[in-house]
Amino acid sequence: MAEHIPIASDHAGFEMKGHLASALAEMGFAVADLGTHSADSTDYADYAHPVAREVSSGEAKRGILLCGTGLGMSYAANRWPHVRAAVAWTPEVARLAREHNDANILVIPARCVSDEEGVQILKAWLNTPFEGGRHERRIAKIERADDVER
Ligand code: RB5
Repeated sequence: MAEHIPIASDHAGFEMKGHLASALAEMGFAVADLGTHSADSTDYADYAHPVAREVSSGEAKRGILLCGTGLGMSYAANRWPHVRAAVAWTPEVARLAREHNDANILVIPARCVSDEEGVQILKAWLNTPFEGGRHERRIAKIERADDVER
């Protein structure tokens, strides 16, 4: 069965979201476009939370968000338990976000990269496995802020 993958953006990422959704469909994913559905001005958090909720609950294994810088979307998404939303502006950052940080949401800064770069970033993130090992311990500490020595 095709992997269900939710994607959402605000107005700044609206156009690139269409390109990425098409690329995902071509790759065989069952894409769920959670909006926004026009280039009209909107608020990024309204779109970050539905995608993050799905990833946090396990309904989706991974998800994709876009806004102008990637920052607002990542702030909102990272408030959800078990969500690790990474802003990636190059394929190399996307690869490292998977290998080292096990990022389960990719956030693309649509005003800072071209459509073509966006697709390359997406592919790097989709195709890179988590490296595990020492990174497991580091990721576990993200969810346990109170346990970390001061
Ligand atoms: C919208 O103008 C812009 O602020 C938004 O897309 C994003 O960059 C916020 O972090």
